[in-house]
Amino acid sequence: MNEPTLLEPGLVAKDTTSINAYFPLPGLGLLPINAFLINAQQPVLVDTGLASMGKQFREQLYNLIDPADLQWIWITHADPDHLGNLKDILNDAPNARIVTCYLGMGKMGILGIPLDRVYLLNPGQQLDVGDRKLLAVSPPTYDAPETCGLLDTKNHTLFSADSFGALMQEPSESAEAMNTDALREGCIKWATIDAPWLSKIDNASFSDSLSDISRLNATTILSSHLPPARGINSELFSYLMDATRAPRFFGPDQAALEKMMAA
Ligand SMILES: [Fe+2]
Ligand SMILES: [Fe+2]
Repeated sequence: MNEPTLLEPGLVAKDTTSINAYFPLPGLGLLPINAFLINAQQPVLVDTGLASMGKQFREQLYNLIDPADLQWIWITHADPDHLGNLKDILNDAPNARIVTCYLGMGKMGILGIPLDRVYLLNPGQQLDVGDRKLLAVSPPTYDAPETCGLLDTKNHTLFSADSFGALMQEPSESAEAMNTDALREGCIKWATIDAPWLSKIDNASFSDSLSDISRLNATTILSSHLPPARGINSELFSYLMDATRAPRFFGPDQAALEKMMAA
């Protein structure tokens, strides 16, 4: 796979569909970029994909739901792979409000996204979406301070934003179907890229933050950057602990980039 590719959406947990893309990172592999639709009584879109695949992304989304029915757009954080199509979807979905925190609202304001449709939520608070409550959760790793994942308290699905992502060599239906060594290596590599601070933190306090996530008893972990993961929570937690001992990632420099482009 040499260019960003959207696959067909798929059911990844009860009431939850994934719109999943793979983005090639030269020399590193494929990065999954997932958004999710929770078919709650008040439907929730979690993140909005990449702008470069906007038309196709919106076609897939609007095949799943009439945009007029969309009530909430939960932005896990204001990175371009999470809010790529936010402006267009806000236009198409007049009843939808953005869920974010104060800092996320500020960043989106700088990017020109209208703030009069924002609903502010902090970790530990809940959003009532009619037939269930969504608990705002701080994931154990992140690359932006506003990052806020969520737990669907009805079916115990955890949406972990960038956390528990992995670089992959080929697409997979699920994380548990991947070769264990490839999954471990891909998770560690992604964690060192996305959270370069991991190598500097105190292992005991990081272990505490993993315990906080473990206590949520998620049946499925839906990362923005991993296929759906079921029944492998402790493995994913251990890979993040391993990442604290891995060397910090530095990307290719200009000479290496030119070599790659020539190849
Ligand atoms: Fe990010
Ligand atoms: Fe991301």
